[in-house]
Amino acid sequence: MNNKDLFEREKNSFLHTYKRTPIEIKKGEGVYLIDKNNNRYLDFMSGLGVNALGHNHPKVIEAVTNQINKFSHISNYFITDVQTSFAKKLLEFSDMDKLFLANSGTEAIEGTIKLIRMKFGSDKKIFSLTNSFHGRTYGSLSLTAREKHRKGFEPLLPNIGQINFDDINDLESKIDENTAAVFLEFLQGEGGVQPVSKEFVSRLFSLKEKFNFLVIADEIQSGVGRTGKNFAFQHYNVKPDIVVVAKAIGGGLPLGSFMVKDNLKDVLEFGKHGTTFGGNPVACAAGIAVFDFINENKIVQKVEKLGDYFFDELNKFRLKYTEFISKIRGKGFMIGIEMKMCEDKIVEQFRDKKILVNLTAENVIRLLPPLITEQKHLDIFLNQFDKILTNLTK
Ligand SMILES: Cc1ncc(COP(=O)(O)O)c(C=O)c1O
Repeated sequence: MNNKDLFEREKNSFLHTYKRTPIEIKKGEGVYLIDKNNNRYLDFMSGLGVNALGHNHPKVIEAVTNQINKFSHISNYFITDVQTSFAKKLLEFSDMDKLFLANSGTEAIEGTIKLIRMKFGSDKKIFSLTNSFHGRTYGSLSLTAREKHRKGFEPLLPNIGQINFDDINDLESKIDENTAAVFLEFLQGEGGVQPVSKEFVSRLFSLKEKFNFLVIADEIQSGVGRTGKNFAFQHYNVKPDIVVVAKAIGGGLPLGSFMVKDNLKDVLEFGKHGTTFGGNPVACAAGIAVFDFINENKIVQKVEKLGDYFFDELNKFRLKYTEFISKIRGKGFMIGIEMKMCEDKIVEQFRDKKILVNLTAENVIRLLPPLITEQKHLDIFLNQFDKILTNLTK
């Protein structure tokens, strides 16, 4: 079967909601993906922030294999050791008290919205920030502010509004005693790797003191050590009421969660929320391997240190290639390079150099290397990026 057949078959069978990368991946190996022609690509997309331990990590394989040999699914009618062990690890890592396990980011957001509505009723207002991304199902899409995702799907959920990103005046004018909750990505991912300012967060939390609404950290992309701390909100010295995670927590298998503080543990009573697959035992086993590996190998500290190095080196490029790069943003291994031109061509040029990256917010090269990436891999990236930029100047 040749490459053309594969893409032809995709065209014949799928709804065309994705723009697929024109290579056929045969296998993964650490920070590399290998195509059927044996080209090795440095994977700085890591499955959109999922593959924290890279591809085919032996600890994940071992955990998954052991679990699948016992049982792969028995439903939430049963509680299992693998689920409770995973829950304990995730809660300890997050310093939260109770959780619900779902399958994905968007589902975890949906559960969170239900908890908020159950606590406050549907008259009180929920806010997200402009330029945000919280998922694509109807509840999460109602929070997702980016027009390109919402257009054509209205009407969305009522009583959900947006506060202008980083705009303290807008925040003050919209928040009042009728506010139930504010969702935010402390470091926006799909929106172009945009960190919210310390001033905005500080005002948000002082308003929270006054009006008693909930703050929800969407850490689906930025969590689990990606920004060089366990969670992006920790760069701000605040503690949200609810933390939502997915992507990396399942070691490549579908898993999501929303975690709450103790005072919210009884809002969703028996029968008020549920899922067939959520907290799948195999995904939980993989998740345990992820957290064990991260803890035992001090991965978060390594990401912080290497992330600083990477950021500084990229900033040198910004000064060297002012005609092409406008900004470098982000923290740890979640970095955005805002380009002055906005073309898919740059992604192709990286691919020609055997590096996989993608664009978000039209002109931002988003880098999400696996958390096990070493300095030598960052240097390969820097070296190739330098070549691409030099070529552009010609
Ligand atoms: C911040 C954030 N929230 C929510 C989601 C939705 O997660 P999922 O694609 O698992 O539904 C994403 C996915 O990219 C995300 O980055």
